[in-house]
Amino acid sequence: MSQIITDDLPKGFAWLEKEPDFIPSRHLALEAPEVIESLFDFGYAPDEIAKCPSDFAVSSIFRVLSDEGAACLLDVCRQLSAYTSSNARIDRNTRGGVYRSRFLRDLCLSQDVTDFMSQIAGVTLAPHSIAHQLGHLNYNPHEVGKDVDKWHVDTLRYDYVMFVTDPQKVVGGEFQYFKGTKHEMAAFKAAGQEVPRSRIIQPKMPGPGYAVMQQGNMVVHQAKGLREEGERITMVNGYVAADARIEDFTRYDQLKLVDPADVSATEFARHHALLAQRLITQAGFEADDTVHVANLREAARRLLAVADEIAQTGISEIDHY
Ligand SMILES: [Fe+2]
Repeated sequence: MSQIITDDLPKGFAWLEKEPDFIPSRHLALEAPEVIESLFDFGYAPDEIAKCPSDFAVSSIFRVLSDEGAACLLDVCRQLSAYTSSNARIDRNTRGGVYRSRFLRDLCLSQDVTDFMSQIAGVTLAPHSIAHQLGHLNYNPHEVGKDVDKWHVDTLRYDYVMFVTDPQKVVGGEFQYFKGTKHEMAAFKAAGQEVPRSRIIQPKMPGPGYAVMQQGNMVVHQAKGLREEGERITMVNGYVAADARIEDFTRYDQLKLVDPADVSATEFARHHALLAQRLITQAGFEADDTVHVANLREAARRLLAVADEIAQTGISEIDHY
């Protein structure tokens, strides 16, 4: 059983009664992307890039699921549309679907997919250990023309955005990213200027089960609304760097705004407990005393900071541009 999602489900969550089993050999059709862009290409300064686990920015579109896999995920996501909620940035989304669908859980925690995404990101990844950062589902707003999401960066480091529905069957609903830094985007917004069209990249999505991988808290992105009636569902799966010496980046204040209060504190505490355990145990028998002493001290420092963060975080606002 996964350490992240146990059978101890949060209140109000229960497994779907009828859904397919996730079978990697049948449901995955992983095909490496042709183009990988770096944060240097986006104009980030070397000192900012040095603070990131890798210089990876965004990939070209690549395939994740077979036709059968995409059909199974669509079935699951339609069932999970019964649990959508709204927030200041997104009109209709389902979070915590991995506590309801074993198919979604197994896809999001898949080692095959994790290894594949690590290759793209240029750093060994682990599935995000906050379950609400796995398998996030966006559904098109009921109102035609209303954007699915606004320009933003993510509250986690790495994620892929995958079309669950067929993007070819709808008008609009494009995924877009800004070819520039988040500081430039903030400056445009502060000056009340439009984002230059030449710098908005809108990759062509060939079908369901295709995705784009990004360093989500460095690449500003958004999802456009449908311009005609239709169905648009995307799935976003989050990752952390597997090496626990790389400090985590998760915005607890933001999670607290979008997830149930009891769930966000529990998940944040467990996530950091797991990272601290990983930091201490990954050193192994060959490490000398000084390494263990440093790791234990670092784990203690981080855990105290997390305790303060949970104790002191008040009500903030959801960030977007
Ligand atoms: Fe995002």
